[in-house]
Amino acid sequence: MSRALYRKYRPSTFEDLLGQDAISHILREAARQDRLAHAYLFAGPRGTGKTTTARLIAKIANCETRRTDKKFAAKGEPCNTCRMCTEIDEGHNLDVIEIDAASTRGIDDIRDLKENVRVAPASGKYKVFIIDEAHQLTKDAWNALLKTLEEPPAYVILILATTESDRVPATIVSRTQQFHFKHVTLETLVGKLKRIAKEEKIDISPEALELVATSAEGSFRDAESLLGQLVSFSGEKVTLQNVESMVGKVGFDKLYAFAGMLIDKDIAKALESLSSIYDGGYNVVQFTKDLIQYLRRAAVLRYNPEMKTLFMRELMSDHVAKLEAHAKSFQDKHIALLKALMAAYGQMKYSQFPIIPLEVAIIESLK
Ligand SMILES: Nc1ncnc2c1ncn2[C@@H]1O[C@H](COP(=O)(O)OP(=O)(O)OP(=O)(O)O)[C@@H](O)[C@H]1O
Ligand SMILES: [Mg+2]
Ligand SMILES: [Zn+2]
Repeated sequence: MSRALYRKYRPSTFEDLLGQDAISHILREAARQDRLAHAYLFAGPRGTGKTTTARLIAKIANCETRRTDKKFAAKGEPCNTCRMCTEIDEGHNLDVIEIDAASTRGIDDIRDLKENVRVAPASGKYKVFIIDEAHQLTKDAWNALLKTLEEPPAYVILILATTESDRVPATIVSRTQQFHFKHVTLETLVGKLKRIAKEEKIDISPEALELVATSAEGSFRDAESLLGQLVSFSGEKVTLQNVESMVGKVGFDKLYAFAGMLIDKDIAKALESLSSIYDGGYNVVQFTKDLIQYLRRAAVLRYNPEMKTLFMRELMSDHVAKLEAHAKSFQDKHIALLKALMAAYGQMKYSQFPIIPLEVAIIESLK
């Protein structure tokens, strides 16, 4: 695999941008009508499509096919084949300037930026500045940008991307069109991973892919890089065990089975199973954390079945069905178990024998 998966599979159209439907819709409409804004603020968690969308806008702004073919322009997408689109994809188009705010903090950098804004585009219609990690800009940099935002030259499009939008000054925010990127659902993540696995001929089971997606916590980039790492580590055939040992977490089925023993108050079976998990070299501290999370969801569902809609975003739908069954058997006694597990978790992290606090918690709360 010569190129990182997350680069290779970066969406090249709004059509391929997943889980951000409202944003895609508005921007495509703006592109159709040729009414892009001069300043955008993209806020939201890691790996959800901010930089990707910024590049889509850059391509749309300067795509040559869009300029010559009105019918194509009405699609609201870049062509991805003209010279401008290709250069932007390859990262060497002179009219698209990507700035990493984390490393562009000095006075000189800002002076360069200010001067650069004043120079008309080299070959495109627009000059697009993409400022990544914008929350890291200095006060001087913000002041300089504010000047540009107040009177942007007609050819300038400024896109600020950040994971921490509350660190962007209000004076800046109010001069931009804002979009809030969301964590995507687990099923959306798994869907894309499946497609990549198929195209890359990676042999990996659905459960293993689900665990990859679960540990990426809503970030496409993390999920895709993890898949890449797994392949370079274990080759084209990736087993659930490979994933478990790389991420240090167990797959859903193991968690479900274990939680079932606790809900049935089957202490003997739970202890035996726990010991085999421990002997299998799994990280019991992480296991306890996942278990607490699982039981917490069961408890919440027991007392508020409506919360299902939220869990449908974080879990696979067949897993939610299993969780619901557990929620039905959840009783007040299990609240004691949940409390005991949390106390045990605190002790385990510092213990020489991490399994013992967990065993004690199970015995004491369920006996
Ligand atoms: N909405 C999405 N649909 C499909 N793939 C996506 C999406 N968002 C991100 N990806 C995948 O993740 C990779 C990284 O995305 P991107 O650089 O756009 O994230 P980001 O939001 O800018 O994250 P960061 O805040 O860490 O910079 C992309 O190359 C792409 O493969
Ligand atoms: Mg980014
Ligand atoms: Zn093009």
